[in-house]
Amino acid sequence: MKPCALVTGAARGIGAAIAQRLAQDGFSVIINYRVNHERAQRVQQHILSHGGKAKLWACDVTDAAGVEQGLQALLASGPIGVLVNNAGVLKDAPFPALEPEDWHSVTRTTLDGFYNITRPLVMPMARRRWGRIVNIASVSGVIGNRGQTNYSAAKAGLIGATRSLALEFARRNITVNAVAPGLIDTDMIKDSPIEEIVSHIPMRRLGTAEEVAKLVSFLVSDDAAYITGQVIGINGGLA
Ligand code: NAI
Repeated sequence: MKPCALVTGAARGIGAAIAQRLAQDGFSVIINYRVNHERAQRVQQHILSHGGKAKLWACDVTDAAGVEQGLQALLASGPIGVLVNNAGVLKDAPFPALEPEDWHSVTRTTLDGFYNITRPLVMPMARRRWGRIVNIASVSGVIGNRGQTNYSAAKAGLIGATRSLALEFARRNITVNAVAPGLIDTDMIKDSPIEEIVSHIPMRRLGTAEEVAKLVSFLVSDDAAYITGQVIGINGGLA
């Protein structure tokens, strides 16, 4: 039987697509979400109606105590072998206009979120000698982007954490990789100048959440057992 797969920020967008895809692959999925219970429930219903298994876990990934408590309860009901750190927020502004809250909320969600969620799960994975961790970074963390100093810093930090953690746990058969999407058609970018952005993408289109989910599906599969510490771009040729 496949282990549980936890996807953070999975009530919508890329996280929802990943949760649905992993359920289709046979994983029993834990849908983490912060506030949007109704949308998280819709993702769960979709999975259940297609014969998959899914449960909901409401928790803000930046809330260290809440995460610890929640994960203890989840681990008590079975091992979590796959972790997808997907939760993320965007607070774009030119650097001089970037308020402290814009800096802190973005870095906290990505980096503290990664730390809070991953640390309690990695030793149980190591004891079972199997684990898959996929961190959703961004092309912005690889090549930078104007107006995204906070977001680029957070995602570049996540990439650094990915590489180091991969080295620490390679011998325990845990792979740790980052996926760096370009522009993906989700609510996150709905206020962006899409036409102008698309004109800079060699493929002249946005990516879909399902395309990202297929890559994550591969990275957690047995076929990807020898891939670790990598940053895999999915960006229509943007970088
Ligand atoms: P989205 O805004 O639709 O989804 C992000 C999800 O994370 C939301 O459901 C949100 O509620 C959740 N979230 C935020 N803070 C949280 C917290 N503290 N605790 C728990 N959940 C939290 O955006 P999208 O596009 O689906 O993004 C998913 C990931 O992909 C993010 O990490 C984002 O940075 C990354 N990404 C997205 C790109 C895009 O073009 N859409 C491009 C590159 C990376």
